[in-house]
Amino acid sequence: MATFTERMGPVLLFWLGLCLSGTWAVDKGNFKTCDQSAFCKRQRAITPGESPYRALLETMELTNTKLTLQLINDNNKVRLLLELYRLQGNITRVKINELKPLKPRYEVPDVLIREPPTEPLSLLSQDENGVVLSLGAESQRVIVSARPFRLDIVEGRDVLMSLNSRGLLGFEHLRMRKDTFSYKVTSTVASVWDNIKRVFSSQADPEADNKEATDPPSQVETTKEEEEKVEDGMWEETFKSHTDSKPNGPSAVSLDFSLPGVEHVYGIPEHADTLKLKTTDSGDPYRLYNLDVFQYELYNPMALYGSVPVMLAHNAQRTTGIFWLNAAETWVDISSNTAGKTVFGKMLDYVQGSSETPQTDVRWISESGIIDVFLMLGPTPREVFSQYASLTGTQAFPPLASLGYHQCRWNYNDQEDVRAVDAGFDEHDIPYDFIWLDIEHTDGKRYFTWDPHKFASPKEMLQGLMDKKRKMVAIVDPHIKVDTNYKIHNEIRSRGFYIKNKDGADYEGWCWPGSAGYPDFTRPDMRAWWAGQFAYDQYEGSMENLYTWNDMNEPSVFNGPEVTMHKDALHGSWEHRDMHNLYGFYVQMATAQGLIERSGGVERPFVLTRAVFAGSQRLGAVWTGDNAAEWDHLKISIPMCLSLGLVGISFCGADVGGFFKSPSSELLVRWYQTGAYQPFFRAHAHLDTPRREPWLFGPENTALIREAVRQRYTFLPYWYQLFYHAYQTGEPVMRPLWVEYPQDPATFALDDEFLLGRDLLVHPVTEEGARGVTAYLPGKDEVWFDIHTFQKHNGVQNLYIPVTMSSIPVFQRGGSIIPRKLRVRRSSACMEDDPYTLYVALDNRRTAEGELYIDDGHTFNFEKREFIHRKFSFTNNVLSSVNLEPDAQFTTKSWVERIIILGASKPSKITLRTADDQENQLEFDFDASMSVLTIRKPGMNAGADWTMTLQ
Ligand SMILES: *[C@@H]1O[C@H](CO)[C@@H](O)[C@H](O)[C@H]1NC(C)=O
Repeated sequence: MATFTERMGPVLLFWLGLCLSGTWAVDKGNFKTCDQSAFCKRQRAITPGESPYRALLETMELTNTKLTLQLINDNNKVRLLLELYRLQGNITRVKINELKPLKPRYEVPDVLIREPPTEPLSLLSQDENGVVLSLGAESQRVIVSARPFRLDIVEGRDVLMSLNSRGLLGFEHLRMRKDTFSYKVTSTVASVWDNIKRVFSSQADPEADNKEATDPPSQVETTKEEEEKVEDGMWEETFKSHTDSKPNGPSAVSLDFSLPGVEHVYGIPEHADTLKLKTTDSGDPYRLYNLDVFQYELYNPMALYGSVPVMLAHNAQRTTGIFWLNAAETWVDISSNTAGKTVFGKMLDYVQGSSETPQTDVRWISESGIIDVFLMLGPTPREVFSQYASLTGTQAFPPLASLGYHQCRWNYNDQEDVRAVDAGFDEHDIPYDFIWLDIEHTDGKRYFTWDPHKFASPKEMLQGLMDKKRKMVAIVDPHIKVDTNYKIHNEIRSRGFYIKNKDGADYEGWCWPGSAGYPDFTRPDMRAWWAGQFAYDQYEGSMENLYTWNDMNEPSVFNGPEVTMHKDALHGSWEHRDMHNLYGFYVQMATAQGLIERSGGVERPFVLTRAVFAGSQRLGAVWTGDNAAEWDHLKISIPMCLSLGLVGISFCGADVGGFFKSPSSELLVRWYQTGAYQPFFRAHAHLDTPRREPWLFGPENTALIREAVRQRYTFLPYWYQLFYHAYQTGEPVMRPLWVEYPQDPATFALDDEFLLGRDLLVHPVTEEGARGVTAYLPGKDEVWFDIHTFQKHNGVQNLYIPVTMSSIPVFQRGGSIIPRKLRVRRSSACMEDDPYTLYVALDNRRTAEGELYIDDGHTFNFEKREFIHRKFSFTNNVLSSVNLEPDAQFTTKSWVERIIILGASKPSKITLRTADDQENQLEFDFDASMSVLTIRKPGMNAGADWTMTLQ
């Protein structure tokens, strides 16, 4: 231990030094480029051309649910097995694995919500060049060309997607290390090989392994397969001071996809980059490898904390998606019109368009695992969201309170500090729902504990918050302090739950507590045990208003390669390499499970995570990690959250104010104004930054921040309904304009504005010293109402809006009805029974519709249909409220206190008819200059049926 600490001391000092230094720059040298990642370099060296792969049509088998076919690599004769499925809802799944791998290759578990249901495939035609299959009832077909192998998905005469059309399919088969042994490889020798390895690793001196890699191959009988050359990095790879032993040798997979007619691709978060992905020809590919990147840089393809291997392709006619289900390190190349003309065999009854036809080509490269790809064929954005949701699930429906404002910093120092900050919100009349505690609240970075001096009576503190209907989040990270006086560590160790290093001992790395172990969250028994730690009688000092934040779950290992875990660490028989990008997903899964179980399955959890993978949307919220108090970081919060939303992860936010550095008061105000209209709304700050609670910047700025936060709270009914909708459909809450205006190219690359649902368009001010912004208002038949002035604007236009420091340009779409609660109180729970104001914005046809969703705000009882879901519509001068889901049951004390109709004309009288056939005349005001009709105290219960006639 002592030597380890001594050895690691300088690393830690170096890291802390960076923390404290003022210069902002990622140390790129700490992270690999594609060239420094041996498999990426090898695969990227394969250039477009004739693929060595050939489909062996005589091996084809077609059952009702799948096609199987062998592929052979003509260079090395290794055979692959292709499986093709037609899944329900316009999805085609293509799996490619080795026909006879030396040992099983990793297939990602737990991300798909079920084995996806299939639909029948049928053979349309076949000859020696290939086969044509019908994809269900649509005019969609898949064409399998044999020599070289390629797949084309076509609809009518349009090619939607082609696979291996550039010949970049690469599949590194598992093999014996030929400088040590030689076998004619069959699958049955795998266990023999494992035994030999075991004997060797226990007997040989530890140096031997290292030597072998550099020694020339010994003289052995070679088989055809072994004539392939051994390249650097195949069996061992060194980066900086770290050597990655690669006992399984090369195992990369890669495949190219061509997207004819496509110029815009999106997704594959997490990157600090524009919404529309860039071509990567002149630099590195986009990298997906969950990393704790210190002081990340903007507008580049470097990896960040999360990886969601899903890309959307869009043009004015169609939206499609590619879901590459692989959890190993992955790189994605994007190019445009570089492939030249794709050549179709005579199977393809298709004439290629002119050379001007735009085309995007992408290539996915992963270090291990198999090729398992889901081609989501749309055709609309909504259908792609639904297709992806059918595979990986939808956004978890969060507790209503978590949609309020969150106050965080590293750190609130002690209970007195928490009390004072809490009181500050009341004093300044700013609502908030959650106050957060970072790592310093623990007893020496031992999670699930409290500092005995600073947080001596956590229940008292939590009760104080509960009395005000407020809540707390405390951090629980996955690195566990190696300390025999720490119960959590002892239990994990004694149960054998730690991830092992390559030699089979518990893996230890350096993180906040010093030396730490990393529980193997991929194990269901470990996750069950971890979940149990959140029980009220296990987690001392916890109460039902305490929720959880999982940070550092990439995992972050300060002294590990690229600040993360060694790839040759072991999860049972699998290497960390195989599932690195899944680790954080499992940490959040186990934690959310714990919060559910502690309440006996009654309460919805709230868990914030930094690392994500496909499927993380089912588990809670995510934030964009350690950003900085800079204008560009404020700007990039928009495309970063939009990109996550496109791949299902709606509950996204960026640290308001910026984590590192200290914001000017102008930047802080603008950030609150932006964050108030983003899904997860939390201020956070680094330990070394000056305090920045909302009232510390003078009364004017306090007022501006108060107003932004209060606007957030007035829209909570709309946010809640949007999240209910996201939970049901997988549609993003915060969405790019092109999702709603898919045929309007002007919306395809907007990074500075977004929609919330369909009905609110937000163009926050993100420029320093701005005097105005130009917002694009879409939709040639649309009108948009400024939510503050009620001024009406037509789409399609670029609208210049003069701004002051109080401006947050937000527009309500004509044709929509948005319920709000205007009596803002201390927290969302305090507003539970408050009345609603309906904002009815009329379109050019003088109609509008909207929804209202109400439940208890925090339990799973909505799954038992305990909720109110209503539809409001305005047509022919009649506004009505009808029950959208009549079998659901819930009662509310809330009533409708006001209705504001935008774009109205003046009625002579307004008659309300309630469900019991009572009729009442209602009072109203009409503002002729703005065409705003305000109906006062109509007084219906929010769950009731009624109609209101304007005469
Ligand atoms: C499937 O695709 C067809 C043709 O593009 C489309 O008409 C249909 O609505 C899609 N169905 C689903 C469930 O997405």
